[in-house]
Amino acid sequence: MLIKTKQNYINFLSKNTKKVIGLVPTMGAIHEGHGSLIRQSLSECDITVVTIFVNPTQFNNPKDLEKYPRTLNEDLRIIHNISEDVIVFAPHVKEIYPETITSKQFDFGNLSEFMEGQHRKGHFDGVGTVLENIFEIIKPTKAYFGEKDFQQLAIVKKLVEILKLNIEIIGCKTFRELNGLAKSSRNALLTTEEKEYASEIYDSLIHARNSFENSTIEEIKEVVFNKFKTLDKFELEYFEIAGEHDLVPINTKKPDVKYRGFIAAFLNEVRLIDNMALN
Ligand code: PAF
Repeated sequence: MLIKTKQNYINFLSKNTKKVIGLVPTMGAIHEGHGSLIRQSLSECDITVVTIFVNPTQFNNPKDLEKYPRTLNEDLRIIHNISEDVIVFAPHVKEIYPETITSKQFDFGNLSEFMEGQHRKGHFDGVGTVLENIFEIIKPTKAYFGEKDFQQLAIVKKLVEILKLNIEIIGCKTFRELNGLAKSSRNALLTTEEKEYASEIYDSLIHARNSFENSTIEEIKEVVFNKFKTLDKFELEYFEIAGEHDLVPINTKKPDVKYRGFIAAFLNEVRLIDNMALN
């Protein structure tokens, strides 16, 4: 079922009280990564709601917002192939931002300081603002997010804590192409050749994971930086190794701390991100 307005969703909810509602928030261009979140929600909840909304406040670059893929009909086809029972909420911008299209400001502490937070100023305030509005409308019991956006997942957990919401945030494993490229809506903007080439991002994370135990952080980073210098279609934005819990980049490892590698790179102007547990 496709619902486009808040009022129609309220009507739907009034006929479905006391149900466990699973939410999969998306910006559309639905792919198998979303598919796995939808399937998990279907298996754990009475009702699964997929929201499709390209949120203007989380884009710090107007060109990026303009280029973002919008494929509602195809999205509906893919979702309903998974299950006819899924509710798709695809609102107009006025439903989410009735007055002004602006972000609230949140204090996410260190979680929003580095990597995506540093390179996309205001991005996480935009994500927090839209999710607060979406949570308020959908009233989910559980909400599902992919680990591909690991920093976002940590921010959403913090958001729920800040807003004191009783929503269980569930992180789901990154879904990958055969060559390792993380599934992402932005992959729709890549040619078949570019998708092949984009596996360099995954390969860098694998290198970091394989060399983590016996190399210094500086050595690992140097290999990745040098590799990207030789890849002329790529522009590396950042490669960092950070604690899995505080998301603060490090220069030296500490024992008994879990670390992850985080990377963002432009491939012919398409911005791709990925991350991986290293130890
Ligand atoms: O990950 C996304 O697609 C978006 O950041 C989200 C969570 C749907 C908020 O707009």
